[in-house]
Amino acid sequence: MPTTTTPPKFPFARPRAAEPAIEYAILRAREPVSKVELWDGSHAWLVVKHRDICSVLTDERLSKERNRPGFPELSAGGKEAAKNKPTFVDMDPPKHMEQRSMIAPLFTQQHIDSMRPQIQNTVDSLLNEMIEAGGEPPVDVAEKFALPVASYYAAIRANGSATATEASLANQALLDYLAKLVDKKIQTPENDLISKLVLEQLKPGHIEKPDVVQMAFLMLVAGNATMVNMINLGIVTLLQHPGQLKDLKRDPKLSPAFVEELCRYHTASALATKRVAKVDIELGGKIIKAGEGIIAATQSGNRDGDVFPRPDVFDLHRKRGSEQALGYGYGPHQCIAEWLARAELEIVFATIFQKLPNLKLAIPFDKISYSPPTKDVGITTLPVVF
Ligand code: HEM
Repeated sequence: MPTTTTPPKFPFARPRAAEPAIEYAILRAREPVSKVELWDGSHAWLVVKHRDICSVLTDERLSKERNRPGFPELSAGGKEAAKNKPTFVDMDPPKHMEQRSMIAPLFTQQHIDSMRPQIQNTVDSLLNEMIEAGGEPPVDVAEKFALPVASYYAAIRANGSATATEASLANQALLDYLAKLVDKKIQTPENDLISKLVLEQLKPGHIEKPDVVQMAFLMLVAGNATMVNMINLGIVTLLQHPGQLKDLKRDPKLSPAFVEELCRYHTASALATKRVAKVDIELGGKIIKAGEGIIAATQSGNRDGDVFPRPDVFDLHRKRGSEQALGYGYGPHQCIAEWLARAELEIVFATIFQKLPNLKLAIPFDKISYSPPTKDVGITTLPVVF
């Protein structure tokens, strides 16, 4: 006789600190495609194996349009936000690539590499300021370093006009501010993302002004919190692994390998990879019906032992094959700013322990304030001495 059990509530809670929920490991072993219950009592499918996640994130029978019935939102706020004018992050082909490619040239590996000297300068001067101000009493490295690194580039994206303070304004205030900024750029275009959209897309009539405003907003806010969290998580992870910290101090060229492992081990943006089925599909022996939501649990995929041996061990010297970690997503919606995020993180971790070799936490590890257990993993404030 079939048993009717209520699916477990999702998002699952992390048991402690930055550790992924244990439910993921259990489901990877027992039921890689399963049902979960969301905040509003609705159900969605949860996919936890690396190979199935890659399949979900490249399947054109699945949609990213949040206004479709059944799209799995994770909170009342998310459901509300789904009513906003969509940007490419919430679009399907062909509109998705049409809009994404309007700004993609600013995020190519080549373009980002050309920005590395600038990023290095920013990182150096922020660390110099910290050194001048002194490392006793404790300072919040998130406020003095991680946040400015992340938002300085937000500022460049809008050409010096948007500061961290402005970026932290309420969404509507920021949207109003950006609408005025777009007007300014229509009058006097400069060399920045908004002007590029104005000159190449708005003026020829490919998009309308609200599209420019929404895209500028997306690019300002999309990655900032994630960047801050990854920098803080990286610092803590190194302090928790003194042997690897020593290796990185001795050879800062290990930084890209460290960042690669960091973005596998900590998945700071794991709740964005959601889809809704447009037609019935079969996955892992289950039938997912049209109109049902699917959550691709990238945080679980990054700990899949079939792909990453000893997945719960942090090892910057990990031998890599062709497998791809899922920290930046996968498929057509894979993070547009991946190279920027990587360049920033690589430079941060090649530099910070060179300039502040005695950096350590001002609090015990078990007093670190992590994000709430059912939210994306992160650390927003981190008192240190150096
Ligand atoms: C370490 C930092 C970052 C991480 C871990 C990260 C992670 C992700 C992930 C997992 C996705 C895929 C979402 C999906 O499939 O729906 C994504 C997409 C995206 N990210 Fe990032 N991101 C980071 C930094 C940034 C930054 C700095 C920006 C902005 C400048 C940014 C802008 C975007 C945009 C616009 C998309 C949507 C792409 C599309 O739908 O085509 N991200 N990111």
